[in-house]
Amino acid sequence: MSLLQVKGLTTSFHTKEGTVKAVEKVSFSLEKGEMLGLIGESGCGKSTLGLSLLRLIEEPGEIAAGEVTINGVDVIKLNPEAMRKVRWNTISLIPQSAMSALNPTAPIGKQILEAIELHKPRIKRDDAVKKVKELLEWVGIDGGRWLHYPHEFSGGMKQRVAIAMALACDPEIVISDESTTGLDVLTQAQVIHLIKRLQKELGLSIIVISHDLAMVTAICDRIAVMYAGHLVEIGPTRKILDNPLHPYTQGLLASNICLDSSGTCSSIPGSVPRLIDAPPGCHFHPRCERGKDICKASLPPLKSLAAADHQVACFAYKEGF
Ligand SMILES: Nc1ncnc2c1ncn2[C@@H]1O[C@H](COP(=O)(O)OP(=O)(O)OP(=O)(O)O)[C@@H](O)[C@H]1O
Ligand SMILES: [Mg+2]
Repeated sequence: MSLLQVKGLTTSFHTKEGTVKAVEKVSFSLEKGEMLGLIGESGCGKSTLGLSLLRLIEEPGEIAAGEVTINGVDVIKLNPEAMRKVRWNTISLIPQSAMSALNPTAPIGKQILEAIELHKPRIKRDDAVKKVKELLEWVGIDGGRWLHYPHEFSGGMKQRVAIAMALACDPEIVISDESTTGLDVLTQAQVIHLIKRLQKELGLSIIVISHDLAMVTAICDRIAVMYAGHLVEIGPTRKILDNPLHPYTQGLLASNICLDSSGTCSSIPGSVPRLIDAPPGCHFHPRCERGKDICKASLPPLKSLAAADHQVACFAYKEGF
C-alpha cells in the first residue's frame, strides 16, 4: 500500500464570476521515501493540489470530490479535530512564499515552538525548546539564535527556518511549494541540498512543487506534470526526460528546461486557460499541434502505455494519431 494515495481529487473555488476548477479528478500515489516533482505553468493548480492534501483549502474553495488516503486512512472523511492531528504530525507543508509568511513580530524559535506545543500538547517546555534548537541546527542555523527575529536572517536562512518548521512534529510527508523561488542561485543550491537531505537522512516522502524543471528533474525520483487542473503525465524522471509522451510535457522540456520567471512556458504558443471557463475536452487542445475532434469533445483519462509506471492523458496514443 502506498503511503499516500490520491484518487479523483477535485478542488473548486466558487467565485462571483463562476466556479474555478483548480484541481480536477487528480489521481496519483506517493511511496515511502520517494521524492515526486510536480511541475506546470503558473495557475495550473499546483499549490491548490498541495493545500488540498492537507485540507487547508479555505472559502470560497472546497474539496468537491475525491479521496486522499494516508497510511490507509481517507483524510477527507476525518472530522476537523482528527485532521488537525494528521496535519504537521503526518503531513506538513513548506508553503509558497514561506519566508515572507514568518511572523515578523515573533522570534523564529518561538514560532517553531508554538507549532510543536500546539500539535504535541503533552511535550515539556524544556524538551520542546531542545527540539527547536536541534531543528535549527539540522537546517544549518545556530540553535543559539532561536530567539532572533525573522529580519535578522537572510532570505535563504528564512527559507531554512520554514523547512525546520515543517519538520517540527516529525512528519512522514513534506510538501515543498516553490521553496527555491526568489533566491539567488547559490542559496537555491543550499535549499535544494537540504530538501534532498530530508529524503536521504530522514527517509521522508516529499512532493516538490516547482517551476524549475532542471531542479525537479535533477532531484526527484518521479515527475508529475499538471496542466489546467489536470495531471497530464506521470512517470519516473528518466522516462519523462528520455520519452516525454504528452505534447505539453514535450513543450515544457523543449523550453530550455526552465519556465520563465512568470512561470510561463514560452515554447508553447498560447497560455493556460482561465480555469473558470476552460475549454471542454482536453484543456490543452487549443495549444496542441496534434489536437483532433475527439480532444475537443472529451477528457482523456490518465492511462499507462507500454510501462505501468508511466501514464499519460492523451488521445493521440489510444487513437493512434
Ligand atoms: N482563493 C482563491 N479564490 C479563487 N481562485 C483561486 C484561489 N486560489 C487559487 N485560485 C485559482 O486556482 C487556480 C490554481 O491556482 P494555484 O495557485 O493552485 O496555481 P499554481 O499552479 O500553484 O500557480 P503558481 O505556479 O503561480 O504558484 C488559479 O486559476 C487561481 O486563480
Ligand atoms: Mg503555486
